[in-house]
Amino acid sequence: MDKQVLVKIKNLKKQFIKKTGPFFNRKVQEVYAVNNVNLEIMKGEILGIIGESGCGKTTTARMLMRLMKETSGEIWFEDQDLCQLSESQTRKVRKKMQMIFQDPYDTLNPGMRILDILMEPLNAHEKEVSYQQRIEKVKQTIESIDLKPAEDFMYRYPHQLSGGQRQRIAIARAVILEPLFIAADEPTSMLDVSVRAGILNLLLELRKKMGLTMMFITHDLSTASYMCDRIAVMYQGRIVESGPTKKIIQSPTHPYTKALVSVVKDLNYFIANRENIILDGEVDATRKQVGCPFVSRCPHQESKCHTVEPKLESLGQGHLVSCHCHSDIMEKTS
Ligand SMILES: Nc1ncnc2c1ncn2[C@@H]1O[C@H](COP(=O)(O)OP(=O)(O)O)[C@@H](O)[C@H]1O
Ligand SMILES: [Mg+2]
Repeated sequence: MDKQVLVKIKNLKKQFIKKTGPFFNRKVQEVYAVNNVNLEIMKGEILGIIGESGCGKTTTARMLMRLMKETSGEIWFEDQDLCQLSESQTRKVRKKMQMIFQDPYDTLNPGMRILDILMEPLNAHEKEVSYQQRIEKVKQTIESIDLKPAEDFMYRYPHQLSGGQRQRIAIARAVILEPLFIAADEPTSMLDVSVRAGILNLLLELRKKMGLTMMFITHDLSTASYMCDRIAVMYQGRIVESGPTKKIIQSPTHPYTKALVSVVKDLNYFIANRENIILDGEVDATRKQVGCPFVSRCPHQESKCHTVEPKLESLGQGHLVSCHCHSDIMEKTS
């Protein structure tokens, strides 16, 4: 693997079996939550994964973090395929990669004090360090996420903190073992608008200070454009477009990305005459897949789109798109 690449995902798939209907007429449906995803994350970069609810963002991150097993595919981290590791080997790698969830209540045990919550990973992975040094590390970590002085916070329980402070503690828990990689899954979407910017800036600051590599999941393109060096757009379990953030925002090429970009007002101030594109319908992961996954909602379709699934093609400068009509679309809009 290229030395600059930290994570490489190859042909990753996850299929769920969903049961619907009353018990006397149960129907079993296959859900293709992640469908042949290929991705690279370079050392030190923040890669954004963006797409509407249900498109497979969380499932991708959970497989990468080994919180869920894949149906098939490979996940390379440094020089190991995580899908091939034993339980004990996986435990060692976990120290290097951590996840921050949407709702800090999911990660913070309500019956434990902040001190004990943050001691837990140290007790599991750094037993050789003295108890006093571990306490000292907890204090330093709490102060590094801007909760000062640490003594005011470490003896409290999660419910005694505000939502923003709780998410800061969840971030402290993720970084206390000094990981190489963080997956943040919509870390601000449950928080008050007033504290969101603080959390985003904290993540950017930690990335700089600790040299972290990050996968940043969001359904909000303006947050992605603020946070990410590169963006991958997901639609129905697939990456449909990816590239440097500036390229995706200024020259989106897939009709789905175009629609996402067109409705975010604060991204459009510098692009005159861009019309809002409102899509009908929603993601349906249970639809049997023939042709392009976006065809039922696409304003540009040709007959080929109904029969042949498009592949990701390079447009140069790291910009990839999977759309049969991309050259026509680019001509029309240039
Ligand atoms: N444990 C599960 N069992 C069955 N279906 C699931 C499960 N987890 C996720 N899904 C389905 O997989 C699809 C992708 O879900 P998810 O990865 O959570 O999307 P996102 O994070 O982009 O909103 C959705 O259709 C969802 O209903
Ligand atoms: Mg999700």
